[in-house]
Amino acid sequence: MNTHARMSADTSEAVAAFQQVRAVLPALASGFSAEDLTAQSMPDCSPGKWHLAHTSWFWETMILSAEPGYQPVDPDWGRLFNSYYEALGERVDRPCRGLITRPGVDAVLGHRREVDRRMAAWLGDGCGDARTRYLVQLGLHHEQQHQELFLMDMLHLMSRSPLDPAAFPAEPRAGSTEPARGGRERFEGGLVGIGHVAGGFAFDNEGPAHRVWLEPFEIAADLTTNAEWIAFIEDGGYARPELWASDGWAAVKAEAWAAPLYWRREAEGWSVMTLAGRRPVDPAAPVRHVSWYEADAFARWAGARLPTEAEWEHAARARPDAMANAFGEVWQWTASPYTPYPGFRPTEGTAAEYNGKFMANQIVLRGSSFATPEGHARVSYRNFFYPHQRWAFAGLRLARDVA
Ligand code: AVJ
Ligand code: FE
Repeated sequence: MNTHARMSADTSEAVAAFQQVRAVLPALASGFSAEDLTAQSMPDCSPGKWHLAHTSWFWETMILSAEPGYQPVDPDWGRLFNSYYEALGERVDRPCRGLITRPGVDAVLGHRREVDRRMAAWLGDGCGDARTRYLVQLGLHHEQQHQELFLMDMLHLMSRSPLDPAAFPAEPRAGSTEPARGGRERFEGGLVGIGHVAGGFAFDNEGPAHRVWLEPFEIAADLTTNAEWIAFIEDGGYARPELWASDGWAAVKAEAWAAPLYWRREAEGWSVMTLAGRRPVDPAAPVRHVSWYEADAFARWAGARLPTEAEWEHAARARPDAMANAFGEVWQWTASPYTPYPGFRPTEGTAAEYNGKFMANQIVLRGSSFATPEGHARVSYRNFFYPHQRWAFAGLRLARDVA
């Protein structure tokens, strides 16, 4: 087998993987109008068009612009669609992304096609050293993160319309929830390993692998359901300050929280806004769109607590069948602040700002959601949001100390 034939098989695989991932966002966007894709429903959300443009910007910034003499497809892209990279100069403030009415959606899609053409040519040439190959994997995972963010943001936008429009005919992976098992799984703990070991892609924040000490604990076999959440509401959960962290109780009062985001009390019971429009709340389905403050208060009400991220990861590693719906339903809030692991080193270069600088005042979520692309998450994956945020596809599973 000559090395040239081997290399071209590898590069055509790389091109195919790239094209497959890149095709998803335009496909997700295809049912929306230009007006839908331009609006920004809140400062935390971005317009759909912005996601289409920013992901192209990422490939140009992290990969293509490293080539000597590279000329960007459009020199305005950096200013318009840089998300948060301070090292790259001026950018549009996040809350103002909805004011970028030009370029329009068609121009953004045209720009995407040109980036795709350039990236395919670049990948076809073989993609160099290990660092560069890592950045290509980062680009693919970044693109997938924005696929889920696109769905989060479009749902939030649709939820603000008095018409409750359905973004899609059905939700992704609808009906794939594993049946409830009931009960709790016990782990003895001790000195256990967590973090990304080796082999396959991981973000910088998943390493280094290291040891942590765990006391014995129990973790719920199931995710917390809507029926359980309704019991919390009916027991005055949102009206009892003793259940809440101080900042959480302040949010309850300031925001008048009385149920998860997107819930509405109807004559017949609760309804919830979904990607497929407004639906009756399914009592058996995992609760979603709760903040960390709500998850924390619920756990206290239930006589339990949230698992630490190390407990969650250890449970998933030691007994992969212990937790039903660990992946593919809702991200699960943990008790753990998003902080660097011992020995953490950000990715070198521009991507240094990707994860590390957000390691203050946020909380780790584990698992993945129904909106997470297949194959994106893993047992060491650390998602993170601020404790007040509710628009992610986030729920919880309970844990308990063992006496
Ligand atoms: C991990 C989902 C919090 O939304 O900023 C996107 C993902 N990082 N582009 C975010 C991300 C860079 C990140 N979250
Ligand atoms: Fe991004």
